[in-house]
Formats: sequence, structure tokens, C-alpha cells
Amino acid sequence: MDFVITLNRAAATPLHRQLYEELRQAILNGRLLPQQRLPSTRSLATSLAVSRTTVTQGYDQLLSEGYLETVVGSGTFVCARLPDDLLPTAPVLSSPAIADSSPPLSAYGLGLADIELPGATEPTAAINFRYGRPALDRFPIKLWRKLLSRHCRAELDWLDYATDPLDDRRLREAIARYLAKARAIQCTAEQVMITNGTQQSLDLITRLFINVGEAIALEEPSYLGARRTFLANGARLVPIPVDTAGLAVDQLTVHASAPIKLVYVTPSHQFPTGAILSLPRRLELLAWAQQARALIIEDDYDSEYRYGSQPIPALQGLDRNHTVLYIGTFSKVLFPSLRMGYLVLPDRLVSTFARAKWLSDRQLPLLEQAVLADFIDEGHLERHIRQMRLHYDQRRQTLVRALTQQFGQQVTILGENAGIHLMVRLHSPLSDAEILQRAAAVNVGMMSAQPHYLLTKPPGEFIFGYGELSDRQIQDGIIRLATALHPKSRLEN
Ligand SMILES: Cc1ncc(COP(=O)(O)O)c(C=O)c1O
Repeated sequence: MDFVITLNRAAATPLHRQLYEELRQAILNGRLLPQQRLPSTRSLATSLAVSRTTVTQGYDQLLSEGYLETVVGSGTFVCARLPDDLLPTAPVLSSPAIADSSPPLSAYGLGLADIELPGATEPTAAINFRYGRPALDRFPIKLWRKLLSRHCRAELDWLDYATDPLDDRRLREAIARYLAKARAIQCTAEQVMITNGTQQSLDLITRLFINVGEAIALEEPSYLGARRTFLANGARLVPIPVDTAGLAVDQLTVHASAPIKLVYVTPSHQFPTGAILSLPRRLELLAWAQQARALIIEDDYDSEYRYGSQPIPALQGLDRNHTVLYIGTFSKVLFPSLRMGYLVLPDRLVSTFARAKWLSDRQLPLLEQAVLADFIDEGHLERHIRQMRLHYDQRRQTLVRALTQQFGQQVTILGENAGIHLMVRLHSPLSDAEILQRAAAVNVGMMSAQPHYLLTKPPGEFIFGYGELSDRQIQDGIIRLATALHPKSRLEN
């Protein structure tokens, strides 16, 4: 194949990512045609003077997203039907027309080219183990509608601008009470700021503390939504390994020469491995933060869904030195499109955050905030969480049982004690891309954990969300997957 690919070795974007982007653009703009054969990884690596791993990583990403396919014994080909054909309106970030007619983007704007928009990376199979989705059919929609109409009928204040930049006072009070009870958080309503979900909390924190090149430590592997926000804002990332007790806090001190300003953790259910940060590690982390004059971003994701084990108090509740910025969201306990979360701040930072929030989006819709305040105050939130905990526990047990029955020794299950997903290590000679492809061929969708790793990319790790699936779908999906992978003849111990 005679095909020019330009890689910029001086750029911050890794070479495999540049290769991925070049090939993807070539496929989208027709320079590479459907069913066209690509060079072997070895020959492309030689012609580009890069390692074969670089090319394999680029190809694997395109395989997992459905742009390429492998035909055993023949090679790698552009797929006959591309994922973007199904998404005719999906924006192409670096379209030449836009680039030609616009002034150059800022460093922030340019940094966004790497970010996949929703839909680009998620599987679309009939039985979809995608993560991060709650059981929406269990949401008490009639009750929500009743509360909505109650407020719609009353005064018209909710049509106006908010008067408080931290947002609805009654909701903040309800959240402060709920957090004190459920998570041992120590705060008053003055310290609670309502945000448009975790993503906005992370964005505000990063913009308020990080200048280009300053360091944020984060778990390896970690939540992509956080990592992308940090990178887009120019942070230098310091990945810290995670083991069965969560973040290896002692590794933070190794980086003492280059000060770390923020450390991002998911202590309740480490994302995606599911490790729960042990109490000694929590205390060690708090002591480190005080001594290093750093702040801890505690993303208490999945804390509501814990199975069997006793809750460990949130870092914020254990903190005596006001070093924790505590983040929560209603995306999973209620529904993601509500776009409502909260940030619990040390007193001294409240007014700065209020100003940043006011500049960023003014406020959140007042009607939904009033409804949510009622929902919490009248006990519906806690009741819903209790019911959903039982529901998800059952789904989790079904998934664990199905995986164990179908894969036996050939699977290791991680992080099943909390949350609405678990991580699985498949001991298989197949590549991740091949496993995903075989799963897709039997209409099963799941996600590789590799994108969540910054440094090492261990093969065979997959995330299985079960929040939105029925017992039957879970069982059927795992049987299909096992059949597609032929565990008895193909998988190794
Ligand atoms: C670790 C983590 N935190 C937070 C969220 C939720 O983010 P948001 O509140 O922006 O919907 C997710 C979603 O999957 C997540 O994985």
C-alpha cells in the first residue's frame, strides 16, 4: 500500500495515538477505502521507523472501534461498514473545512483533538455490558413527575436567575444532611456547591489549581473522564499504581522532588479495578496531603452500592486538615441526564469556587433542584438507594456466577464488592481486540480496561457493567461470550 503517514515525534500526543488519528481520518475522508488491506504491523513499523507495539496499539484501537477488521490468515482490512456510517451527524473534530476557515485553536482547543465524543467508543451490541449505566427502568418516574408538577404549579421563582452562586439552598442543606448520615461527611450547607455532575466538579478544580505543567497524581488505571479533564487543562500526570488495597500511597513520596498539587482518588470503588481504599491507606494519604501541602480530590463514586462489607468513612470525614475536595453525583443513583452533582469544599475555598462556577455556567435549573431537594427530604432518595442496592446485588451475583460457571479457572473477577460494574481478567491467548471482535460477532458488547491505563496496558482486562441488564441478559451474554471465545479449547489457565 502506497500511503503517506506523518508522525510528529516532537508532539505531546503519543505516536500510537497519532497513527490511530491519521488512519481514522484517512478512512473517514476516503483516502482508505472500505475493505482495503492495510500493511502488516511489521512492515508499517519498519517504514515509519517506530516500534511494532506502536503500530499494534494504533491498529487495536481502530479494531475495537470497528474501523478495521482482521481476517484470520489474510491480514487487516478497513471495515466494509464503518461505525460513523451509523452516526451521520457525529462531528469530526479536525475536519479540514473547519481548520481552513478558522483562526488557530488555543492550546486547550488543540488538546481536545484526542477526546472521543460519546458514541465513538461505546459498544452498541444487543447485550451491552457497557459501564456507568443505572437501571433506568427502575427509576420512580411517576413520583418524580408528581414532584415536578408540584413545583411547576407553585410560585414562578424557578423561572428566574438564581440568587446564590452555589445554587439552591434547600438542596444544599438536604445534601449536607444526607452526606453526614450516609458517608460521615463533616460539612455545612455553606460548603456544598451544586454542580453539573462530577465532570464539572473536576473541571473547576483543575482550572482553579493547575497551571500548565503542574502535577496531578492519579490512580493507574483511572477514570478517563478525570484524566482527560486534567490533560486538557495542561496538567502533568503522575500515575500511581493501585493494588488490592487501592492507591499505593507510599509511591506518592517517590515524587517529592516535583511537587504534586492534587491527587485524584476513587476510594469507595476504585475505577475501574474496584479496589476499596483501606483505612490505613486513607489515613496515610491524609497525612501525606498535609505534609505535601497538596489537595485530595475524593471522587466518592459508587459509594452508595456496597455489598456485604461495612462502609469505610469517606476521606473527607476523616480529614482534620481541610485537604479534601469531596465529589459526588446523582448520575448513577438517579439518572445521568439529571446532570446534578455536588462538591463539598473546605470553607476557605468556597468563595473562589462560587466565582468560578458563576462565570462558567451561572447556575443549574432551579426546578430540578427543588424537586431533588424534596426527593431527598421526603426520604425517597434513601429508599431508592436501598431498593437498588438489593437489585444490583442480585445482578452482580448472577454475573459472578455466570462468569465462574462459563470460564472457571480462566477468569479472575475483581472489585465485585461494590458498584454497578466489575472488572474481569480473562486468561486468554487472544488479543483484546480479537476478544472484543468475537464478542461483537455474537452481539455482546463490553469494554477493554486498556484505555484507562496510562503506562502499562495489561491485556485481557475487561469492564462489565451490569446496571441496566436483566438476569437473563447477563446469563445469555456470558454464555454467548464463552461460546465465542471457545474457552475449553482456546483459553489457557
Ligand atoms: C469514576 C467516575 N466518577 C464519576 C462518574 C460520573 O460522572 P458524572 O457525574 O459527570 O455523570 C463516572 C461515570 O461513569 C465515573 O466512572
